[in-house]
Amino acid sequence: MAVNRYDRVAMILHWASAVAILILIPVGKWMADAARDHSASPAVIFDTYQTHKAAGLTILMLTIVRIGWRLFHPPPPFPASMTPWARYLANATHAGFYVLIVALPLTGWAMVSASPFGFPTIWFGLFEWPHIAPLAAMENKKPVEDLFKGAHEILGNAAIILIVLHIGAALKHRFISRDQMLWRMLPGKKGT
Ligand code: HEM
Repeated sequence: MAVNRYDRVAMILHWASAVAILILIPVGKWMADAARDHSASPAVIFDTYQTHKAAGLTILMLTIVRIGWRLFHPPPPFPASMTPWARYLANATHAGFYVLIVALPLTGWAMVSASPFGFPTIWFGLFEWPHIAPLAAMENKKPVEDLFKGAHEILGNAAIILIVLHIGAALKHRFISRDQMLWRMLPGKKGT
């Protein structure tokens, strides 16, 4: 029986975002700690912030494309063997991911826009990404920066929980249920 699979564009968008997020989370935690306790040189910290911001904003762009793509290319239906509970959990996890891949970059962008330091964001050394103008123009920025910083941290921790659940579910399908779920998102595998 052939596997109902996501299309090629959906797979590319999924894996590009997944790899980037799996790198951005530990790098984000590392650089926030390093900036607080000065455990790395200012130049290394600055470059890491720049790369983190550029990659995070790229995820925001990819997410916009992804949501647009999904609206016109609905995902393949779940296999008939999946229980209502498993469907509910899968849908809830996926919805949670969509919220996070929009809210994480937006809170990051808002945080740097409201930073009293006003450091620019240079997108991979190519051009200056604008700050969110109303935030950059505020008089008293610090409390707003702190608010978005706190939100970014909480969302980053929520992403870790969802990633663990998501990978756990994929492994359960592969090794316990031994069904075709994992192949739906894997390129180059035709299924049986
Ligand atoms: C999906 C995209 C993103 C992910 C997964 C992500 C993840 C993270 C994580 C986990 C942290 C560490 C938070 C902590 O525990 O203190 C962090 C820090 C940070 N992120 Fe992001 N981020 C993303 C996008 C962005 C964007 C788009 C920007 C800005 C344009 C940004 C700016 C920052 C900054 C400035 C910090 C350091 C905060 C501090 O100094 O405490 N992030 N990020």
